[in-house]
Amino acid sequence: MKNILIIGSGISGLTCAIKCAEQGMHVILVSPYPSERAQSVMAAGGINAALDTNGENDSVLCHIEDTMKGGCDIASRTAVEGLCRRAPLIIQWLEELGTVLTRDDKQRIDLRAFGGQRHKRTAYAGASTGKQIVTALVHEARRFECMGLIERRLGLHFYSALLNDDECCGALLYDSNSHRLEAVYAEDIVMATGGQNGLFGKTTGSALCDGYAAGKLFMQGAKLKNLEFIQYHPTTVETTQKRMLITEGARGEGGRLYYLDGDRRVYFMEDKYGEGGNLMPRDIVSKCIYDAPSQVYLDIAFLGKETISKKLSEVYTLCRDYAGIDVTKESIPVYPSVHFFMGGLSVDNSHRTNLKRLYAVGECAAIYHGANRLGGNSLLAAIHSGMTAAESISGENFAVSECDFSSYISEQESLMDKIFSSESRFSAVYVKQDIAKIINSDLGITRTGDKLRRGIESMDYYLSVCDKLKFDCEISPYQSYSLEGMITLAGAVLTCAEARKETRGAHIREDYPERSDDLCCATVISYNSGKFETEFVKES
Ligand code: FUM
Repeated sequence: MKNILIIGSGISGLTCAIKCAEQGMHVILVSPYPSERAQSVMAAGGINAALDTNGENDSVLCHIEDTMKGGCDIASRTAVEGLCRRAPLIIQWLEELGTVLTRDDKQRIDLRAFGGQRHKRTAYAGASTGKQIVTALVHEARRFECMGLIERRLGLHFYSALLNDDECCGALLYDSNSHRLEAVYAEDIVMATGGQNGLFGKTTGSALCDGYAAGKLFMQGAKLKNLEFIQYHPTTVETTQKRMLITEGARGEGGRLYYLDGDRRVYFMEDKYGEGGNLMPRDIVSKCIYDAPSQVYLDIAFLGKETISKKLSEVYTLCRDYAGIDVTKESIPVYPSVHFFMGGLSVDNSHRTNLKRLYAVGECAAIYHGANRLGGNSLLAAIHSGMTAAESISGENFAVSECDFSSYISEQESLMDKIFSSESRFSAVYVKQDIAKIINSDLGITRTGDKLRRGIESMDYYLSVCDKLKFDCEISPYQSYSLEGMITLAGAVLTCAEARKETRGAHIREDYPERSDDLCCATVISYNSGKFETEFVKES
């Protein structure tokens, strides 16, 4: 029986686990926390599929074209076609597993208008779609646990890949209960570790998704792609801990953005782009909010209590509980905030990385979204990528090489012992906060070469001290050992953003405001003995 190790148990990891188990493979599904705490549960607005339940003549082709256009034409068209073609079947599968999607008066799956889409295409479960899907998938995964095909293990963080040259044979995991490293070997290893929110501090996502795994794998030889494309969600509310997402569904239901000129409301998106202005792709809406001369508000009060309570009840409670705003009476002050990472581990159309036997799925993999993701395509991509990886794994047949990792493992154990016994007062958490401050400023909605180069210098400095200083592990040794991988990743993101001398999608260069035909390509970055090398590659 084939053994598969899946690292990360959000929607993409769970889907991959279920699909591997359905084919009789044995899956070890590891994560630091239960699936119910994965970032997937925060996904609010919905999941795209050209179901055309409203008879608007939507089609898979339209979904493909909108996704390619939204991503500014640099995503892999073959991959996007696979994603959009499977979308209706994914909705059917989710319903069979018990996901309760919101229905219209005729009991058809209700579809929402989302940004950058010509037709209503976003199926949803109120404003807690991710939570509903996770619940259904966890339930399904438990069936396979009972059969012994899925083994769930909690409290395990990724530490490093176990590599024999460029072949991945397993992973070294840090156990936060025993504080020891554990080697887990498998025929195939699937990364499902999410995006890089933790690197940026306050975002709409989970700080637990901090990009460490991608950064460490990069240092071990995995290529990364399109890192400069960071999506700012146009409508979030500032709270002490994070930026709370006000789902695009609020604008999909008719919500309007405006700022005040004296007492007069200026509906700037409608003025500039006409009727559908509030639902332009996120890169465009975020930039317009950023450029607005005063505070921007979102008005949904005029939709009425009934629509708000039926379709947006989570927006109502979130604004009441975190911002003291009654959205049935008042407008919501909104700010664009870091939300999603189009870039990540470079994968082919089967979700293989450049390291043999190592796959990546979900937000940690870069493939479908190009320079800007459409809302509702991330839940879809999470499920589709998990399924695609499971299919390629089941189709593989290769001899697994034997390799002895004992000296590497004992070396890493001694390093961990040193981290543990460190009495240093240098705070790893403080360094991470400083890195977040730097990259938030240098990788904001708009960028310049000067700021990006300044950011790269700061990361070089931090990497040089990282080697010399020992950091405290008051909170957890994870905070300490993850530092180098996270700084390296931050350096790689800044390097890609500096290298792309044009404006495209979510990458807006003040010093290169035009789109360049020569750069209609993906940015691929590799790590060679401490040096970063970028190249532009045309996707097929
Ligand atoms: O606005 C939202 O509900 C976000 C959805 C998404 O990022 O796909």
